[in-house]
Amino acid sequence: MSGELSPIDKAKFVAAKRASEYVESGMRVGLGTGSTAAWLVRCLGEMVRDDGLKITGVPTSTRTAALARDVGIKVASLDEAKWLDVTIDGADEFDGDLNLIKGGGGALLQEKIVATASDRMVVIADVGKEVENLGNFPLPVEVIPFGWQTTQALIEETLVSMDVLGRSSSLRMNNDAPFVTDEGNHILDLHLNRIGNARQLALVLNQMPGVVENGLFIDICDSVVIGYGDGRVEVRDINAGTVETDKLDFVESDNLFADLND
Ligand code: A5P
Repeated sequence: MSGELSPIDKAKFVAAKRASEYVESGMRVGLGTGSTAAWLVRCLGEMVRDDGLKITGVPTSTRTAALARDVGIKVASLDEAKWLDVTIDGADEFDGDLNLIKGGGGALLQEKIVATASDRMVVIADVGKEVENLGNFPLPVEVIPFGWQTTQALIEETLVSMDVLGRSSSLRMNNDAPFVTDEGNHILDLHLNRIGNARQLALVLNQMPGVVENGLFIDICDSVVIGYGDGRVEVRDINAGTVETDKLDFVESDNLFADLND
């Protein structure tokens, strides 16, 4: 099956595979959302099935919950698990301080709650997600449907006094209808191009009525596992200040690679 996976999928897979080493029996594990996190869930499912790994997974979306159950991971809600040992999730962008933009898949609210309720957050990403400055990826902001256009106008007005390069925004669509999150909200994507002060922007956005949460993850991520298409991985730990490199053997097992739709 090797020929069927693109280099970017290989990069996502090796990042996920390496990050699965953080998970031990008995742990409560936050399970992220998106294509990279889906690789992780598959890897953990394989460890549950083949190695007897016993974990409780707390998914960050209905999509991830369905996949986790599918691969045999015991699933619990955050309120059942209460506090997590580790959350492993993808990101749309990460910078040198391991601040993130997340929410490209629309799950930023649960993702932020779950990551914050964890001893450790590990991001898994292909190398293309690394940026010098956050903001090229449109920043997702979850807003309640009531008065969303007013909220959008307020956000755009506020952006005038913020350190950003672009100020337009768009309502995320799902075909012809507004996208609806797992919490029943909408997403505004802010086209900022470059965010000068992400910490300030995150605080200001969350002060606005109508805004539920924004996709800036500031001081939440502890380490990032960066995958490359040739099997190399780099692990950066922001607290320890360490950088490790490794190369994983890329062995595709039919179980792991079958039917991955996310
Ligand atoms: C989901 O809402 C997002 O935060 C994802 O974690 C992010 O979009 C990364 O997704 P991929 O792994 O699919 O790039």
